[in-house]
This record gives sequence, structure tokens and C-alpha cells, in this order.
Amino acid sequence: YQWNSNLCANHGGQARRSVTDLKKPLIHARITDMSQKRVLSGIQPTSDSFHLGNYLGAVKQWVELQDSHDTFYCIVDLHALTIETDPTLLRQRTLASAAQLLALGISPDKATLFIQSQVPQHNQLGWIMECLAGFGEASRMTQFKDKSAKVGSDSARVGLFTYPMLQAADILLYQANLVPVGEDQRQHIELTRDLAGRFNARYGDTFTLPEAYILKEGAKINDIQEPTAKMSKSSGSVAGVIEIMDSPDANLKKIKSAVTDAGREVKFDPIEKPGISNLLTIHSSLSGISISQIESDFVGKGYGDFKAAVADVVVEYLRPIRERAQELLLDEKHLLSILHSGSEKARTVASATLD
Ligand code: AMP
Ligand code: TRP
Repeated sequence: YQWNSNLCANHGGQARRSVTDLKKPLIHARITDMSQKRVLSGIQPTSDSFHLGNYLGAVKQWVELQDSHDTFYCIVDLHALTIETDPTLLRQRTLASAAQLLALGISPDKATLFIQSQVPQHNQLGWIMECLAGFGEASRMTQFKDKSAKVGSDSARVGLFTYPMLQAADILLYQANLVPVGEDQRQHIELTRDLAGRFNARYGDTFTLPEAYILKEGAKINDIQEPTAKMSKSSGSVAGVIEIMDSPDANLKKIKSAVTDAGREVKFDPIEKPGISNLLTIHSSLSGISISQIESDFVGKGYGDFKAAVADVVVEYLRPIRERAQELLLDEKHLLSILHSGSEKARTVASATLD
């Protein structure tokens, strides 16, 4: 994995401002192509496989937006360092993440796919954002509170605390208009808007204020064993998480043993029937059939039939994706060359903003 030496050779040279240019006002730093809105999003390479929550909450929208927007998608390996990380595993998972994103439909011809650590401007602007954010404001981030409470304050890294300011830098460097994410990221995008607005008010109009792009349906997929908790890579229950790279058999078993609710009617009711509602959301998001249509298709049938149908939809949807990702992983050179070009393009845009 020799991506470091190659990728860092050019820090976005041609976009750099000369010393005389630096005396001119910064208001022209935006290089957004005005004909297409800019999109940026990121995903952490913290496991061997993405799960259905990642796909339905975020990546599915990434794929859709690449046809109509100028899209930048970032594998955020620096954010992944905020939890205990084995370096070899992190490199493997970074490549595996790229393979899965491509298999899920990200096209290098349409989108810029890159690795965060290969664009040093993220760290540089990250520091500026840390110096702009208040300690109290950062302390109110619920993801930080949850994650640090889980490991305890002695084990929680400072990077876990400063994580949202690096995320703000990820977004603002690209002057992104839209940030497609799951519901759990809404607060981080709000913070990013606050920081951008504060910077602009103090130092001159520099950053585009981004908007969160969060779907009504699918923005929060829950664990299928514990349907009131979010499906999560770090959750304890392996049985509750549907992984893209899991074998069709394993996923079939998982869905057939998904937790259901009292009663026997297949009905969307997240309060009374969180298990069935979650499965309805998954079915509908993958099959494209509306929830009300699925409800009527299962009138008079039981939960067993419904779970078998959901399993079929999920397994058949994921089968070719897993196969494609496995195929892509066999050709590391090809994967690295895609990431290399993506990171080079990202550095050009990021360094223009930073300058
Ligand atoms: P992460 O795995 O934390 O890097 O998340 C990558 C993307 O997936 C983010 O946009 C998250 O909001 C989204 N995401 C993660 N878990 C879920 C979930 N259970 N339901 C919906 N979206 C999710
Ligand atoms: N914090 C995001 C998550 O856990 C990942 C992320 C990092 C991100 N930088 C980003 C998402 C920039 C959107 C935009 O899911």
C-alpha cells in the first residue's frame, strides 16, 4: 500500500496563490462550478463492511446525486483514528471501503472519490475550525457524548472531541451546498453551518453554508435485533446488523430471526411496532414498493411470510454488490489509481479554498 509517497507529492500546486496574490482579498476563493451544485460527504473505514444503514441513510443518495451534482465523496480515515486502530487493518478497510462504494454505484467518471488523509488541507482548516468553535458548543455534540460515555473519559481520545471540527473542514473546503448523510449527522452539519457563518462574519465572505440532505425514509435504519436502537458498526449485536459483505446465507438467517412485535399485522407504526416498521422501511427502500402497498400485500399473512419476503429482497439486492466488491478488491492497482486521481482533484479544490 504505497499510496502515501505518491499522493502527497503535489499539494495542489497549480491552484496555489502567489505571494502578490495573497495581498488581494479572499472573496474569490470559491471555485464552485456555478452550473452544478456541489455535494460532499464522508464515511469512516472502521469496519470490513458497510451496513444497510450506511447504504440507505447515505450512500444510496450519494449514487443518485452524482448524475446531477458535482460530487466529492471522502473515505475519512483520519476520523477513523479517533478509536483504537490497527494500521494494517485501517489500510485494508480503506481499500475495502473504496471497493464497496464503487460496487454500490459510485462512478469515478462522475464523482470524485478520495481519501481524507491524502489531502492535508483537511487538517490545516481543521485547526482553524477548532479555534473558532467554543468548548461548550463542542461539548454539546451528542455523538461525542455517547461515544465518550461508552469508553470513559480516560480512554476517550481528544480527537473524538475535535472530530466535528475536522468534519466541518471536510465540508467547507469544497464549498459544498449539500451534505447527504443519515439523521445522526444532523447536529454536525448544523455546527458546520454555524462555524462557516461565524468565519464569514468575522473575516469576510469565504465559505458556502452547507445544507444537510437527509431523507424522510431510511435516514435511520435500526438494528434488527434491537429495533429501537440505530444499526451501527460499533453496536454489540452482530446479529442485528445487515452487512453488505456478509454472505447471502448469513443475511438470510439474520433477517429470518429478526425481532418482531406483538400482534400479527404487518403495519407501519414505529411506536407500537418498531421491528416490523424497520423491516418495512428496509423492504420499501430497496424494492421501491411503497410501504402502504407492502402493507396491503401482507393483509391476512403472518410475520413469518413477511420476513421471508424482506430476506429475499435484501439478499437479492446485495448479492451482485458483494460479488462486484470482491472482484474490485482483487485489483488493488486499479483501486489505488482511482483513489490517486480523486485525491489529486480534491487537493486542487481544497488548496484553492485554503489559500
Ligand atoms: P459512519 O459509518 O458513521 O461513517 O456513517 C456513514 C454514513 O452512514 C453517515 O451519513 C451516517 O449518518 C449514515 N448512517 C450510519 N448508520 C446509519 C443508520 N443506522 N441509519 C441511517 N444512516 C446511517
Ligand atoms: N461523521 C460522519 C459519520 O460518522 C463521517 C464524516 C466525516 C462526514 N466527515 C464528513 C460526513 C463530512 C459528511 C461530511 O458518519
